[in-house]
Amino acid sequence: TEKRTLLYEGKAKNLYNTDDATIVLAEYKDQATALNGKKKDQIAGKGELNNQITSLIFRELNRRGVATHFIEQISKTEQLNTKVAIIPLEVVVRNVTAGSFSKRFGIAEGIAFPKPIVEFYYKNDDLDDPFINDEHVKFLDIATDDEIAFLKKSALEIDTILTDIFAKIDLTLIDFKLEFGRLPDGSIILADEVSPDTSRLWDADNNHVDKDVYRRDLGDIIPVYQKVLTGLQAEF
Ligand code: C5P
Repeated sequence: TEKRTLLYEGKAKNLYNTDDATIVLAEYKDQATALNGKKKDQIAGKGELNNQITSLIFRELNRRGVATHFIEQISKTEQLNTKVAIIPLEVVVRNVTAGSFSKRFGIAEGIAFPKPIVEFYYKNDDLDDPFINDEHVKFLDIATDDEIAFLKKSALEIDTILTDIFAKIDLTLIDFKLEFGRLPDGSIILADEVSPDTSRLWDADNNHVDKDVYRRDLGDIIPVYQKVLTGLQAEF
């Protein structure tokens, strides 16, 4: 599979067309952003780490029967993915209070939910990815009732698997964001990435092992992300 023209430039990765119309090449970049791009830094080695972490996790998701876009990792910073039309929703699952949930509702971080919570955000940088509900999703023609139900069910199934994967390396999966995409036949599969950039992971001492280290200026993310990769490599 050969890399061709740039298809999409994102904050953390670039997507390229390939000589196969059904396959795109994702190149993970050394860029960290927060606050919808208002905080931005180049961090050498971040692209490699996230590409390797997300490749390993998606391989495991595929193995456990989740339909994903992941085909194979082809270099330290690149992977091949099945081409999809991304559904413009950030599907967030929360197991434990943190981040924008704690802020919005004035609730301390670190309280486990009796059952995980699924939230939708409208993926739109100009609007700062607003929180939206099912009715909004339908009105905006983003997804049908059946698709909304499918997204929620899939997100919860993926939560169970990811919680188990991270528990094996002694990390608690606090929350995470997923993106899904449609294949030409209309079926929906998991796309984008799962990495410490898109999830909150706490160790046994409640240390942040994720992008909150960058967002909150708690230190260097490279050794933190490296720990996640090394742990996953030893276990999977
Ligand atoms: O900020 P918030 O608490 O809503 O984030 C919930 C989860 O979704 C976190 O794990 C965060 O890393 C992830 N997220 C993301 N991309 C965004 C917003 C949130 O990956 N644009």
